[in-house]
Amino acid sequence: MRIACIGGGPAGLYFAISMKLRDAAHHVDVFERNRPDDTFGWGVVFSDQTVENLMANDLASGSVIRDEFAHWDDIDVHIRGQTIRSSGHGFIGIGRKRLLNILQERARELGVQLHFESEAGSDLDDWTAYDLVIAADGANSRIRDRYQQHLGVDIQVRRNKFIWLGTHKVFGAFTFAFEHLPEGWVWAHAYRFDDDLSTFIVEMEPETWDRLGFADMEQKAAIAWCESVFAKYLDGHSLMSNASHLRGSALWLNFRRIVCDRWFYRNLILLGDAAHTAHFSIGSGTKLALEDAIKLAEVLNRPGLAREDALQEYQAERNLEVLKLQNSARNSTEWFETLERYLDFEPIQFAYSLLTRSQRVSHENLRLRDKAWLEVVERWFQSKARGSPVNEPAPPMFAPYRLRELRLENRIVVSPMAMYSAEDGTPNDFHLVHYGTRAQGGAGLLYTEMTCVSADGRITPGCAGMYAPEHLSEWTRIVGFVHANSAAKICLQLGHSGPKGSTKVGWEGYDVPLDSGNWPVMAASDVPWSPNNQNPRPMTRADMDEVISQFVAAVRMGDEAGFDMCELHAAHGYLLSSFITPLTNKRADEYGGSLENRLRFPLEVFRAMRAAWPAAKPMSVRISANDWMGELGVTPSEAVLVGRAFTDAGADLIDVSAGQTWAECTPVYGRMFQTPFADQIRNEGKIATMAVGNIYETDHVNSILAAGRADLVAMARPHLVDPMWTLRAAAAQEYRDIAIPPQYLAGMTQLARNLKREQELAAALKA
Ligand SMILES: Cc1cc2nc3c(=O)[nH]c(=O)nc-3n(C[C@H](O)[C@H](O)[C@H](O)COP(=O)(O)OP(=O)(O)OC[C@H]3O[C@@H](n4cnc5c(N)ncnc54)[C@H](O)[C@@H]3O)c2cc1C
Ligand SMILES: Cc1cc2nc3c(=O)[nH]c(=O)nc-3n(C[C@H](O)[C@H](O)[C@H](O)COP(=O)(O)O)c2cc1C
Repeated sequence: MRIACIGGGPAGLYFAISMKLRDAAHHVDVFERNRPDDTFGWGVVFSDQTVENLMANDLASGSVIRDEFAHWDDIDVHIRGQTIRSSGHGFIGIGRKRLLNILQERARELGVQLHFESEAGSDLDDWTAYDLVIAADGANSRIRDRYQQHLGVDIQVRRNKFIWLGTHKVFGAFTFAFEHLPEGWVWAHAYRFDDDLSTFIVEMEPETWDRLGFADMEQKAAIAWCESVFAKYLDGHSLMSNASHLRGSALWLNFRRIVCDRWFYRNLILLGDAAHTAHFSIGSGTKLALEDAIKLAEVLNRPGLAREDALQEYQAERNLEVLKLQNSARNSTEWFETLERYLDFEPIQFAYSLLTRSQRVSHENLRLRDKAWLEVVERWFQSKARGSPVNEPAPPMFAPYRLRELRLENRIVVSPMAMYSAEDGTPNDFHLVHYGTRAQGGAGLLYTEMTCVSADGRITPGCAGMYAPEHLSEWTRIVGFVHANSAAKICLQLGHSGPKGSTKVGWEGYDVPLDSGNWPVMAASDVPWSPNNQNPRPMTRADMDEVISQFVAAVRMGDEAGFDMCELHAAHGYLLSSFITPLTNKRADEYGGSLENRLRFPLEVFRAMRAAWPAAKPMSVRISANDWMGELGVTPSEAVLVGRAFTDAGADLIDVSAGQTWAECTPVYGRMFQTPFADQIRNEGKIATMAVGNIYETDHVNSILAAGRADLVAMARPHLVDPMWTLRAAAAQEYRDIAIPPQYLAGMTQLARNLKREQELAAALKA
């Protein structure tokens, strides 16, 4: 095959090597516009796994690269005069120039034709002498851009400004240094990659960059400025640029996130940064480029595999890897872009948040890396929660939490779940056993299902209510059992179904109208939930007054029943949510239009409830923090304002759910998928939040809490199949100080012993 590689960066060179290794008869020309030693950038970092992949592909270049790596284990986070050091992170780094020289040498040895100072054309008609044209010309690939309509190129320019510098200061640890200036925060990412060289990337928000006047500052002055701000980390060493040909502010970049739907068109194939980019803060761009090269060479040389099939396989396999990494990279990029949220954390928690920002590193990963450090975090978390120094480390999920006068034993919450098993709103023995068992399972707080404030406010005929004397007596029995037989506290979730009412019970079809016996429904506007649902009546002022009085009556009954806490359900497209989301609120009066207007009625309800609910008892509000409809609906940023409005009115906690407000919305589902909204509302709004949504492992819970992404963690479906989730989590983490019904003690002791034995066995097998 005759192959032209446009670009002699890591992707182009390593692909050329990988092709020649597999078949020396291939003719490969690499065209590079620069000279062999001109290279932008300083060092790159890899993981051990990447090095193993390189060794397996080409032992000769792989072992030279391996032998030249600088290794380090520690990460230092400098902030507010403190340095937080954690260890066990295992990075390896190499100079980009050195990496390219090793690859150039190996390519020459294998007979690749290298053409330096050779600007390659971006028209496929320039390349008719070749069977394949490889676009390995980096993130700014011209040939990719020329054929972008065939490749489905999506480029997102991220907001922060950064400059990639080098220094002779040798950093002993991967260093993150945050400095606060009158113009804003600036920070550096620094790491050693050679005996006497380190990369030093300076980053800041664009507003800070503007205020500092970098737009009109020459390169030399900008570098001198960075040297003075970070002088205390540089020990007298200077900072250097190796892109001195760039003038003015051109050295400052915005990261460009690139995704392509198709990685090939005619005989053009995208490779490395031309096909995708991953933010430098997770340091994986070069790894992806090299691994792309290996895979592409492998499929192109596999006997019997047709070209089209080979390229389909290349794209499918590599794209999956890239998407995984880009997902983590996006989390990491966003963390630095929303840094403001975390800057008032104490340094230890700030460092934890930084280390877990991509969500690839969790609480238990940190324990494996540096147990002693993680235990410092755990002790800090527990001491803060308990208000006095704690000597023994313990999982964050087992820290108590206070809401007004209510003390929760731990941070695990059984999320509200409709059971559709009441008759005329009256709970029964099913509910007693259901809630009783889950209370005995160890969670600190238990929510009831959405309990409706009127018969017409029910979702289904099976929904529980709080509007009749028999409801009060049955709920009193359930609350009494919970208090008498567990340490759990119990919260009454009150709601009104609005436009989603008069439907079948869950297992007969969600949101499907009843076959007979439907009752009329109302909402903010006459927007039905779906074409199959009733057209709701827009609420009149008289309707509003009636609903407010129903909520007040229900909250009073809730207090009488002995509930510890009360929640207003203002999420998921039900009555109050139908006001908050602009997708269903089409009113022209003071209850529609602006967010302030859309919140007016839900806040009237909330304030009336708060006034009727005892001051010592807390209240929460469940909201849908994202309508998953972009700017057409409620966005997470708007949800911060929604959360603030309710906390200003006296809410103690925002229960952060999302979606279910518009039948056609498209949630982006994944593990912990709604937690970013709890994080944003908590840390931008300075509000206590509860995270919920596909959280199912102890590790998720501990990571969320220790990173300050939420104050409480609710789980729904995990508790359906495992009411004892919290007790099991305590046994697995060898946590003994949990309230457990004495009748169940023996089971807990045995479970803890067996889990420990299993862990020891697994460790022995691994060893
Ligand atoms: C600040 C920063 C820090 C980074 N840190 C890391 C890190 O720690 N670890 C990591 O793995 N990755 C890191 N990266 C990413 C890494 O640099 C890239 O992912 C990697 O270089 C991709 O390799 P590539 O060969 O696809 O593209 P490039 O390295 O960009 O190579 C493309 C080559 O094509 C040449 N070229 C372009 N157009 C033409 C043309 N028309 N004719 C001829 N030649 C052309 C260019 O001169 C260049 O040499 C970082 C990136 C940035 C911006
Ligand atoms: C069977 C079932 C019933 C639910 N009923 C309610 C409810 O009554 N009120 C409410 O706010 N959320 C309700 N939800 C949503 C859950 O509280 C929770 O937000 C959602 O299931 C995501 O959490 P999970 O991934 O832990 O299940 C229900 C969920 C399930 C599975």
